[in-house]
Amino acid sequence: RYEKLWLMLGVSMLVGFFVVLLYGQFVQGFMPAHGFQTIDPTKVDQTPPFNQPGVFKKGDNEYEAVLVAMAFGYQPNVIEVPAGATVHFKITTKDVVHGFQIPKTNVNAMVIPGYVSETSYTFKKPGEYLILCNEYCGVGHQMMMAKVKVT
Ligand code: CUA
Repeated sequence: RYEKLWLMLGVSMLVGFFVVLLYGQFVQGFMPAHGFQTIDPTKVDQTPPFNQPGVFKKGDNEYEAVLVAMAFGYQPNVIEVPAGATVHFKITTKDVVHGFQIPKTNVNAMVIPGYVSETSYTFKKPGEYLILCNEYCGVGHQMMMAKVKVT
Protein backbone atom coordinates (compact mmCIF):
# COMPACT_ATOMS: atom_id res chain seq x y z
CA ARG A 1 0.00 0.00 0.00
CA TYR A 2 2.75 2.41 0.96
CA GLU A 3 4.65 1.48 -2.16
CA LYS A 4 1.73 2.69 -4.25
CA LEU A 5 1.71 5.93 -2.34
CA TRP A 6 5.44 6.43 -2.89
CA LEU A 7 5.03 5.63 -6.56
CA MET A 8 2.26 8.20 -6.83
CA LEU A 9 4.43 10.73 -5.05
CA GLY A 10 7.34 9.96 -7.37
CA VAL A 11 5.18 10.30 -10.45
CA SER A 12 3.63 13.55 -9.30
CA MET A 13 7.07 14.96 -8.56
CA LEU A 14 8.18 14.02 -12.06
CA VAL A 15 5.13 15.70 -13.51
CA GLY A 16 5.89 18.69 -11.33
CA PHE A 17 9.41 18.92 -12.68
CA PHE A 18 8.12 18.74 -16.22
CA VAL A 19 5.67 21.55 -15.58
CA VAL A 20 8.46 23.71 -14.15
CA LEU A 21 10.72 22.84 -17.08
CA LEU A 22 8.04 23.62 -19.65
CA TYR A 23 7.13 26.81 -17.87
CA GLY A 24 10.78 27.86 -17.96
CA GLN A 25 10.94 27.21 -21.69
CA PHE A 26 7.73 29.11 -22.14
CA VAL A 27 9.01 32.16 -20.28
CA GLN A 28 12.31 32.01 -22.14
CA GLY A 29 10.29 31.84 -25.33
CA PHE A 30 9.25 35.41 -24.69
CA MET A 31 12.75 36.75 -24.25
CA PRO A 32 14.01 36.22 -27.82
CA ALA A 33 11.30 38.64 -28.89
CA HIS A 34 13.80 41.11 -27.56
CA GLY A 35 16.68 38.92 -28.62
CA PHE A 36 18.83 38.98 -25.55
CA GLN A 37 22.13 37.66 -26.76
CA THR A 38 24.98 38.82 -24.55
CA ILE A 39 28.08 40.83 -25.45
CA ASP A 40 30.98 42.35 -23.54
CA PRO A 41 30.11 46.08 -23.63
CA THR A 42 33.79 47.05 -23.39
CA LYS A 43 34.64 45.02 -26.49
CA VAL A 44 31.83 46.08 -28.85
CA ASP A 45 34.31 47.34 -31.47
CA GLN A 46 36.03 43.96 -31.62
CA THR A 47 32.94 41.75 -31.46
CA PRO A 48 31.29 40.66 -34.71
CA PRO A 49 28.99 41.80 -36.14
CA PHE A 50 29.42 45.07 -34.24
CA ASN A 51 33.03 45.50 -35.38
CA GLN A 52 31.43 46.39 -38.72
CA PRO A 53 28.20 48.30 -38.16
CA GLY A 54 26.17 48.81 -41.31
CA VAL A 55 23.44 47.48 -43.54
CA PHE A 56 23.84 44.10 -45.19
CA LYS A 57 21.67 42.44 -47.78
CA LYS A 58 20.59 39.01 -46.60
CA GLY A 59 18.16 38.00 -49.31
CA ASP A 60 15.36 39.18 -51.54
CA ASN A 61 14.15 42.34 -49.84
CA GLU A 62 15.80 41.26 -46.63
CA TYR A 63 18.45 43.26 -44.83
CA GLU A 64 20.32 43.13 -41.58
CA ALA A 65 21.14 46.45 -39.96
CA VAL A 66 23.86 46.27 -37.33
CA LEU A 67 23.89 49.32 -35.10
CA VAL A 68 25.95 50.53 -32.19
CA ALA A 69 24.30 53.00 -29.86
CA MET A 70 26.36 55.32 -27.73
CA ALA A 71 25.96 58.72 -26.14
CA PHE A 72 24.66 60.45 -28.21
CA GLY A 73 24.14 58.78 -31.53
CA TYR A 74 23.93 55.61 -33.54
CA GLN A 75 26.47 54.11 -35.83
CA PRO A 76 25.63 54.04 -38.71
CA ASN A 77 23.59 57.21 -38.68
CA VAL A 78 21.69 56.59 -41.91
CA ILE A 79 20.30 53.29 -43.12
CA GLU A 80 19.20 53.07 -46.75
CA VAL A 81 16.93 50.32 -48.00
CA PRO A 82 14.48 49.96 -50.89
CA ALA A 83 10.73 50.09 -50.30
CA GLY A 84 9.34 46.73 -49.25
CA ALA A 85 12.52 45.73 -47.46
CA THR A 86 12.34 43.78 -44.25
CA VAL A 87 15.09 44.99 -41.97
CA HIS A 88 16.35 42.92 -39.06
CA PHE A 89 17.93 45.31 -36.61
CA LYS A 90 20.68 44.19 -34.25
CA ILE A 91 21.62 46.84 -31.76
CA THR A 92 23.94 47.07 -28.81
CA THR A 93 25.34 49.89 -26.70
CA LYS A 94 28.85 50.81 -25.71
CA ASP A 95 27.89 52.79 -22.65
CA VAL A 96 24.53 53.29 -20.98
CA VAL A 97 20.96 52.20 -21.66
CA HIS A 98 19.55 53.73 -24.84
CA GLY A 99 16.29 53.37 -26.66
CA PHE A 100 15.58 52.43 -30.25
CA GLN A 101 12.24 53.64 -31.43
CA ILE A 102 10.89 54.32 -34.89
CA PRO A 103 7.74 56.42 -34.47
CA LYS A 104 4.63 55.25 -36.36
CA THR A 105 5.97 51.69 -36.46
CA ASN A 106 5.97 48.95 -33.83
CA VAL A 107 9.75 49.23 -33.49
CA ASN A 108 10.53 50.07 -29.90
CA ALA A 109 13.44 48.35 -28.21
CA MET A 110 15.53 49.00 -25.17
CA VAL A 111 19.27 48.76 -25.72
CA ILE A 112 20.98 47.53 -22.57
CA PRO A 113 24.76 47.35 -22.00
CA GLY A 114 25.90 43.75 -22.32
CA TYR A 115 23.01 42.67 -24.52
CA VAL A 116 22.04 42.60 -28.17
CA SER A 117 18.53 43.78 -28.96
CA GLU A 118 16.82 42.47 -32.05
CA THR A 119 13.74 43.69 -33.80
CA SER A 120 12.44 43.58 -37.37
CA TYR A 121 10.30 45.77 -39.53
CA THR A 122 9.12 45.83 -43.13
CA PHE A 123 9.29 49.31 -44.63
CA LYS A 124 6.50 49.29 -47.17
CA LYS A 125 6.32 52.99 -48.02
CA PRO A 126 9.22 55.11 -49.28
CA GLY A 127 10.24 57.99 -47.07
CA GLU A 128 12.40 58.92 -44.14
CA TYR A 129 11.84 57.20 -40.84
CA LEU A 130 13.39 58.67 -37.73
CA ILE A 131 15.10 56.45 -35.20
CA LEU A 132 14.88 57.98 -31.76
CA CYS A 133 16.40 57.26 -28.40
CA ASN A 134 13.54 57.06 -25.93
CA GLU A 135 15.54 56.25 -22.81
CA TYR A 136 17.08 59.17 -20.98
CA CYS A 137 20.82 58.72 -21.44
CA GLY A 138 22.38 62.06 -20.53
CA VAL A 139 22.61 65.68 -21.62
CA GLY A 140 22.59 64.86 -25.33
CA HIS A 141 19.61 62.52 -25.14
CA GLN A 142 17.27 64.86 -27.03
CA MET A 143 19.66 64.94 -29.99
CA MET A 144 20.23 61.21 -30.19
CA MET A 145 18.74 60.00 -33.44
CA ALA A 146 19.36 58.33 -36.77
CA LYS A 147 17.23 57.63 -39.78
CA VAL A 148 16.09 54.98 -42.20
CA LYS A 149 15.84 56.18 -45.80
CA VAL A 150 13.43 54.05 -47.74
CA THR A 151 13.70 54.68 -51.48
CU1 CUA B 1 20.43 57.61 -25.89
CU2 CUA B 1 18.71 58.81 -24.85
